[in-house]
Amino acid sequence: MPEIKLPEVELNIYSPRDPVEVPVVENWICTKEASPNYVRHLTFDISGTELEGRIRVGQSIGILPPGEDENGRPHKLRLYSVSSPTEGERGEARFVSTTVKRTIEEWDDNSLYLGICSNYLADLSPGDTVKMTGPSGRRFLLPENATDFNYIFFATGTGIAPFRGMVMELLDSGLENDIVLIFGCPYRTDLLYADYFEPLDNKYPNFTYLPYVSREDRRADGTKRYVQTCLWDDAELLDPILEAENTLLYICGLKGMEGGIYRALAKKELHSYLDLREEVIGKSPDEWDENNLKRHVKPGPRTFVEVY
Ligand code: FAD
Ligand code: A2P
Repeated sequence: MPEIKLPEVELNIYSPRDPVEVPVVENWICTKEASPNYVRHLTFDISGTELEGRIRVGQSIGILPPGEDENGRPHKLRLYSVSSPTEGERGEARFVSTTVKRTIEEWDDNSLYLGICSNYLADLSPGDTVKMTGPSGRRFLLPENATDFNYIFFATGTGIAPFRGMVMELLDSGLENDIVLIFGCPYRTDLLYADYFEPLDNKYPNFTYLPYVSREDRRADGTKRYVQTCLWDDAELLDPILEAENTLLYICGLKGMEGGIYRALAKKELHSYLDLREEVIGKSPDEWDENNLKRHVKPGPRTFVEVY
């Protein structure tokens, strides 16, 4: 395995106490078709701020929504993954993008809850300004020696955000090794940035896009296709890449998705992606204690995780 040289990053150039105000330049729906999962691509103009040229793909930006909570305190900061490459959206350092899903829930008393920050962002128009902080995140990054590795990216929902920028960056760098993007969403209408990823699959022989559409596609045994079932459903493609010593694995999206992926890796005896603690060594992954999973099964040095 080549040494993984992670870049030094700058953190919290702007803090919640001292945010920077930047304008929105675009805000468009990035689901494949009209979907009740409203997900939007937003780009901000950070020119003339200390953020310009200092945010790396894999990091997050913070947004301070206006207004106060029910206790009269200012709303807290929310984090959003950067979905543009390190060089900036459209190759311009002055533009940074993110991908925002509206939080919309129906509660037990029949009331409708609209998430504070996601809906604030999704409602914005070009020219409106937001208070931004960051960047944050020091490990979920591409290595400096990025072309030494193959990449397997696991995303659910807006977890695809960092992989948009990472794939752009890796393909632009002339990477010849393999990239596989496994994306999980409920329905085909929820495929994110499909107009970008689908053609790439044909254009670059070393890039494969594998959508796992949980509520439409079924496995042979009738169960749902989840991102982690790809270890069996797409084994022919993935086995040799996962077994190569220079493959890195990235996981982003739903909190809880790591458990299924870790179990699948362990079942396939791909232990080098994991850091198994004493409590689970020798146990079947089906017997792992779900409540203590975070303590007993950790990502190994070649696995990078960002879940929320
Ligand atoms: P909130 O108003 O904060 O509500 C969130 C939840 O709190 C809801 O489920 C709601 O039911 C519950 N809640 C609120 N009030 C109450 C109450 N009174 N009683 C009970 N429950 C309540 N999101 C993205 O869309 N894209 C990203 O790229 C992204 N990247 C992230 C990266 C990181 C590192 C992290 C930590 C998070 C990321 N998120 C991302 C999630 C994002 O930060 C927000 O959490 C998300 O947008 C929801 O925020 P909100 O203000 O809209 O919802
Ligand atoms: P499902 O909702 O059918 O159970 P979104 O964020 O757009 O809702 O998409 C999340 C996707 O991740 C859905 O396809 C969802 O499937 C799937 N999913 C839910 N739980 C897990 C899990 N534990 N591991 C992997 N995928 C999951």
